[in-house]
Formats: sequence, C-alpha cells, structure tokens
Amino acid sequence: MTFSQRHFLGIEGLSREELLFLLKTAESFREISEREVKKVPTLRGKTIINLFYESSTRTRSSFEIAAKRLSADTINISASTSSVNKGETLLDTARSLCAMRPAAIVIRHPASGAAHLLAQLDKCPVINAGDGTHEHPTQALLDVMTIREHIGEVEGKTIAIVGDILHSRVARSNVLALTTLGANVRLVGPPTLLPPEFRLWGVEVHTDLRSGLSGVDVIMMLRLQRERQARNFFPSLDEYARRFCLTTQALAEAKPEVIILHPGPMNRGIEIDSRVADGPYSVILEQVTNGVAVRMAVLYLLTTRERIAAQDRPDRPDRPDRPDRPDRPDRPDRLNYPDRVAEPSPAVVQEISPVLPKRAVGQ
Ligand code: CP
Repeated sequence: MTFSQRHFLGIEGLSREELLFLLKTAESFREISEREVKKVPTLRGKTIINLFYESSTRTRSSFEIAAKRLSADTINISASTSSVNKGETLLDTARSLCAMRPAAIVIRHPASGAAHLLAQLDKCPVINAGDGTHEHPTQALLDVMTIREHIGEVEGKTIAIVGDILHSRVARSNVLALTTLGANVRLVGPPTLLPPEFRLWGVEVHTDLRSGLSGVDVIMMLRLQRERQARNFFPSLDEYARRFCLTTQALAEAKPEVIILHPGPMNRGIEIDSRVADGPYSVILEQVTNGVAVRMAVLYLLTTRERIAAQDRPDRPDRPDRPDRPDRPDRPDRLNYPDRVAEPSPAVVQEISPVLPKRAVGQ
C-alpha cells in the first residue's frame, strides 16, 4: 500500500488500512534512533519548515529531530519572531514560505482549522502539529504506537481518556484513531469538560473517575488546559484534583497490567500524581521517543511522494501540478488565478482572528 494523502491534517477521514500503514512505517523508523549514528540520507536536499504559533516542547523538537535524522534541513519559525508581529496574515506568511520551496510545512496554531487553511494553498505538503481544539494527528499516532508496543492490537481493548476532553485536540484525534482500529473508548471527566458531540462517536462517557477506570487496559490522562478555560468549568483546581487526579488509589480500579499515557506537558498534582507519572505503569517517556519515529514516517511519506510525482513529469519535474500550462507554468492566467486560494471565509476569520493583530483580520 502507499499513502496517497498530500497533506497530513488529521486522523479524521483516514481508513484503518492507512492508519496501520502509517504505524508500520513509524515502527520501521524507530530503529534509526537506536543507532549510534542516528541519521539516514532519505530527505537530503529537502527543507522542512516548522511554523509554530503556539508554545511546544515535544512536538516542535520531535519534528526537528525527525527531519534531521532523515538529513533534511530545518527552519524553525515562531510567531513571536516572525512578521506576524507586523500584521502579516497567516496565508501571506505561508505564501512567502512556500515561495522558498520547502518540502513540507509543519504548523501548530491556536486556531482550529489553521492547517487546513494552509493546505488550501496547496503549494507544498502541510502537516498539522496541533490546531486549536481540533486535531493533533501525530500525537494520536505516537500514542497508538506506544499502546500497541505494550498491549498488542488495540481492537477489543478498553482505553480511558481522562480529563479536559472539551479542549483536547489530543482526545479528538485519539478517539478517531482508536475507534477506527476497533478499541472501546471511554471518555472520563466532569460533565462541563465533556463535549456532547463525542456521544455520537461510539464512545462511553463517565463522569466518575473510578467507574471510568474500572477494568481498563490503558489510561490516557489529558492536561487540564488552563489557558483555554474561557469560563469556570469547575469550582477550583483543588476540587478538580480531588475528583479527577490519577492517584495510586484510583489506578487500582484498572487492570493490573494497565499502562498510563500523558501527552505532556503535565500538571503534576492536578490531573496526575507524581507517583503515578513516574511510576512503573507510566509509558510517558516512551511516547516521546515514539514521537520521533512517527514524525519521521509522516515527513518521509509526504515528501517522497512529492518527488515521485515530480519524476513522472520529465518536462518540468519541479512542477508536477501544472500540466495545462507548459509554456509559463509559473504564470497562471492573470484574470483567473487558479492557484490562489480564497481568503478565509468569515467563519474561519472569526476563528483565527483572536491570534492575529486586529488590523490584519479579514484582509
Ligand atoms: N504533546 C504535545 O503536543 O506537547 P507540546 O505542546 O510540548 O508539543
């Protein structure tokens, strides 16, 4: 099988076969990170741009390490040091970056849909490294990879996802991945942090931690996203911790061989007790290790596909997508800009506007 997606924007829409193929590819890359010389020439001559509009430790460094282990060149751009500060829109930033011919752009953005917006430009593969409360697809892949390493196939296994489900792109991507692969998924959290639409996704919902953890094979704890709590979803942090912190006592409800995941960063003492986070059931650092392999796989599958497409066009190997204008493929009809993506719809602008300077909105 080959992976035919041009962009990697989410788990939504991926088939079971595509998920298994991505996981198998990631597993094959894992070994490279165990070598003394952790580098292969696969992406030599290619440039990967990491465009991060939101803080990140794991995802950003993991994408950078993954690209470097494949011998790609990497550029890291953060909102605080880019021309976003001068009012440039996300699309204009992306257009400029694409003009430098990167092999792929990896984007993290606080607005849901930002990666999809970039993908509409369709100038180079776009990889979603987390968009608002929408999806974090490479996180879900590394989570599933880690789970499979410990308990085998996830089909028929019971996995509890616990905490701030409402704001969690990690939960959303994991629900999609795990249910597609046949797992029984339970969402556990206070009613105010459980979005009603998840009930439509074939998952169990629990508002009591102990009942939610009863007999589970895997516990995936989520970070309480304090920066996204627009209103009071619970009376106090103390109250939240009393009811939903994963302690050694709560852990006793799960299967004896349970494993515990957390995407990080952790709020120790709020959603997870340090004795659990650092204890024998925790696979949290293995998740981080697997993140590099997953991102190597995604970078490889998306950027080498580009090369294959280009090789199919010996006349203009750098322009595989312009069969209709062999004379000046770089100059679309002046009155009809076929390669120009429409500016964001009002709904998207509204979503993205909180993160852009006011004067740039709606340009
Ligand atoms: N899991 C995760 O996305 O962590 P970072 O925010 O540090 O990238």
